[in-house]
Amino acid sequence: MKVTVVGAGAVGASCAEYIAIKDFADEIVLVDIKEGVAEGKAMDLMQTASLNGFDSTITGSTNDYSKTAGSDVAVITSGIPRKPGMTREELIGINAGIVKTVAENLIKYSPNVILIVVSNPMDTMAYLAHKATGLPKNRIIGMGGALDSARFKFRLAEALDCPQSDISAMVIGGHSDTGMVPLIEKAVRNSALVSEFLSAEKMAEVVEATKVGGATLTKLLGTSAWYAPGAAVSELVRAIALDSKKMFPCSALLEGEYGLNDISIGVPCVLGKNGIEKIVEVSLSDTEKEKLATSAEGVKKTNALLQA
Ligand code: 2OP
Repeated sequence: MKVTVVGAGAVGASCAEYIAIKDFADEIVLVDIKEGVAEGKAMDLMQTASLNGFDSTITGSTNDYSKTAGSDVAVITSGIPRKPGMTREELIGINAGIVKTVAENLIKYSPNVILIVVSNPMDTMAYLAHKATGLPKNRIIGMGGALDSARFKFRLAEALDCPQSDISAMVIGGHSDTGMVPLIEKAVRNSALVSEFLSAEKMAEVVEATKVGGATLTKLLGTSAWYAPGAAVSELVRAIALDSKKMFPCSALLEGEYGLNDISIGVPCVLGKNGIEKIVEVSLSDTEKEKLATSAEGVKKTNALLQA
């Protein structure tokens, strides 16, 4: 499998590193617009191969998309990250143009590619990729929910004082500080609902901490996080590479699912060799339905800025 990662910043480099270490890809190509950065990070990562025990080859290219030709999967992380106090939506002015150009360049050399969009505001950038490329809807995946769900599990394990491996939990909706929908009513520890262990107040605290998980880290780091985003992307790519049929919340273009149309937003998706193999319509409580509908309104508002 050949994987391209566009954007050799912290998130892109972490994506490449985790994909390499998990060793399911034959070839990883890192692309950046800044002279030498992708080449340097690729070489540095390749010098960990004997230490981390992987055989994937990693190469870098300064904005030469011919090097990405024949990619099976391409990850778009390029664009600016947010600064403390910013929302993801405020990045649209700069990132929209970058994501459109990158997506068009990628499909020129890899017409059968599966795109994974990470750049923010992610749901809107994924929607833009659909409009800009016309790729079949199963071949554009927005990565947000896998990251948000990881943060949700982190917070739940913290509240339950248990290993994260004991937790199964999912976040759907928009990848935004206000629009995320952690499915707290469905979260389980092993097979017991977390409501068996946590008060309503504590569960609300966990939900709120999850929603601002990205902003919390941006405040601490002075920029967006990169380890968990990179790891989340690597799991989506692995599911495609192994045709695993694992289910992840991903931003997918909806055409009536969950009563939503003409929007890319986080919903449960089965991932496999064709990208999104299936959008899964899980049963939602009235509260969950309302939160998803409100979240969709927020994403559509941001999408409208694309036309502006
Ligand atoms: C995050 O939540 C970068 O949107 C990403 O950390």
